[in-house]
Amino acid sequence: MSKYNLAVVGASGMVGQKVIDLLAERELPVKNYYFFASARSAGKKLTLLGKEYTIEELTEESFDNKEIDIAIFSAGGAISKKYAPIAAEKGIVVIDNSSSWRMDKEVPLVVPEVNPEAILSHKGIIANPNCSTIQAVVALYPLHKKYQILRIVYSTYQAVSGAGMGGYEDLERGIRGEEPKKFVHPIFANCIPHIDVFDESGYTKEELKMIDETKKILGDQTLRITATTVRVPVFHGHSESINIEFEKDFKLSDIRETLAQAKGVKVLDDPSSNLYPMPIDAEGKDEVFVGRIRKDYSLDRGINIWVVADNIRKGAATNTVQIAQKLISYWESGTLKKNNS
Ligand code: A2P
Repeated sequence: MSKYNLAVVGASGMVGQKVIDLLAERELPVKNYYFFASARSAGKKLTLLGKEYTIEELTEESFDNKEIDIAIFSAGGAISKKYAPIAAEKGIVVIDNSSSWRMDKEVPLVVPEVNPEAILSHKGIIANPNCSTIQAVVALYPLHKKYQILRIVYSTYQAVSGAGMGGYEDLERGIRGEEPKKFVHPIFANCIPHIDVFDESGYTKEELKMIDETKKILGDQTLRITATTVRVPVFHGHSESINIEFEKDFKLSDIRETLAQAKGVKVLDDPSSNLYPMPIDAEGKDEVFVGRIRKDYSLDRGINIWVVADNIRKGAATNTVQIAQKLISYWESGTLKKNNS
């Protein structure tokens, strides 16, 4: 039965549009949809499941008198910071794609394959993690449960679409020989070891997000983690080299089996036939692809893995829509009351 009303804030953006595709694919029990963006997009039409909708300008009154149950926000940090509390105040559950609320102690940070039960403690806002963190923890969680991770070294190779439309257009500009507008350096035929802003420690915010969010989602503040995040000239799909040190002994064959059985993971690992995950193969898919699974012989108990996912799907839109589905299933089963917030 279609009984809920759902809003998408940032409906014209890179992630917002993918959220709309996912809502069409997954057919949630939704009665009515509302779409919001800036004044630039107000009045534009879009079609979802055979029905035409008009994008409205987001204002402080946007959530009044509409009986919206869930609002998926993908309009950047400043918009989330201001409007998510306005929506939550009206009893709407916000699923937020920005970094604004992720480290707030009152806000659950959720990857449905890892910690769906965190949804139960929401107070009106549920945060969707950073795209690079999501794909990493989907692969790390089953290994952490079994072998207790001690230390993680992340090195990422991140697609331009992670920076929104502007990032995508910068690579197209570069291919045409034009100057970048979004990034501080040309991205075409280049790698930029600089995602989000630097802080005084020399790390970028993207790196700190990966470190802090991994600990929060895995529920383990003792983890030792470091990260280097790099923007590469790829349109879709983030790749990550992850070095992991375990507390417990393991057999490599068990690691493979554990990953092969893990929710949301697909192992692609056969070097003899040149099989390993690559961003061009992950595009448009919801799984997290893992390959290059091998021992790190410089450690007593360590491995290296290579993890690839579509950053706009599993890294953003798919994860938020999965959170919405899980939230609805908790409401439907009576596990969570509708007015939890
Ligand atoms: P708009 O397209 O009208 O500017 P991306 O990350 O791909 O750049 O997308 C950002 C999304 O956030 C777009 O949907 C954009 O709408 C939306 N957005 C940007 N500024 C505002 C604003 N002030 N109010 C509402 N939505 C906004």
